[in-house]
Amino acid sequence: MVERPVVFSGMQPSGDLHLGNLLGALRPWVLEQHLFHNYFCVVDLHALTMPWDPAALTAKTRELAALYIASGIDPQRSTLLVQSHVPEHAELAWVLGCLTPMGWLERMTQYKDKSRRSEAERIGSGLFTYPVLMAADILLYQTDFVPVGEDQRQHLELTRNLAVRFNHLLGETFKVPEVRIGSMGSGSKIMSLDDPDRKMSKSEESDQGVIALLDPPDRIRAKFRRAKTDSGTVVELASPSPGVANLLEIYRALSGCGEEELRATFEGAGYGRLKDLVADRAIAAIEPIQARFQELTSDPATLDLILAQGAAQAREVAARTMVEVRRRVGLLPSPGA
Ligand code: TRP
Repeated sequence: MVERPVVFSGMQPSGDLHLGNLLGALRPWVLEQHLFHNYFCVVDLHALTMPWDPAALTAKTRELAALYIASGIDPQRSTLLVQSHVPEHAELAWVLGCLTPMGWLERMTQYKDKSRRSEAERIGSGLFTYPVLMAADILLYQTDFVPVGEDQRQHLELTRNLAVRFNHLLGETFKVPEVRIGSMGSGSKIMSLDDPDRKMSKSEESDQGVIALLDPPDRIRAKFRRAKTDSGTVVELASPSPGVANLLEIYRALSGCGEEELRATFEGAGYGRLKDLVADRAIAAIEPIQARFQELTSDPATLDLILAQGAAQAREVAARTMVEVRRRVGLLPSPGA
């Protein structure tokens, strides 16, 4: 059997999973999951890098795992894991951190943005070393591809640089992953409905612009109705404003329709009709996810079992990598490994 390339990706269990996550990440993962050996991770340790509420973290971790499955990630086909269930992630992060020049981390724009927004005394150093933990996530599994959004490009470059540095200083140990930003398959970038110049984001202050996957259908429709368009009244496909372009993109991504069909459906149509048809599509896509999610949450024992199996599968691979890392670094072999 030919080994399939390894894919690793993850999301933080903070905020509400939304339509942008579904169309930009989850759905492309699902569509291509048969082509790869996949690891899809709930990165709970990363969620500790900003202030958090412990009870909410527990609930959100299960919620995100259930939403992965409800959205089509098949635990028989892909390894679904909670990051902290595999202690090798934190262990490798320590070793890699000792090989990461401070300057590399100081250049990370996400750190600069996030830390600028809080007082220095209140930021944990985990926010600074966050990309090292992400590198550990990826390198533990000898990953080939990491499907993430543009905002993660710098972290991926750092991961590659760290792999090269480790291999150079201590001997060939890690596969250097490829950067594969944006589209695996049909991943799209979805913007906020009330501020179409900004990405639909889990950390948005107002949730008006964000279609959460667990929003009730009437809420979804109401949010689309309030979506920002422009001072016009009908769709002109040649020059849509950012708000209209975003609605069209959501429709295109949800329906899989081509340019021709888009034109036939919307050229000259009123904004009200555009919003209604997009809302119909979004609700039709989200309702089955919600139904499956309810099933999964009504049976927590099964979900926990899936997560335990995922952790066991992942650990086997992660532990193998750590044996090699320990040897290269000069740490005594773990007794029992
Ligand atoms: N930092 C990523 C994000 O915020 C989440 C993440 C953590 C991740 N570890 C990863 C993504 C490993 C891909 C691979 O989106």
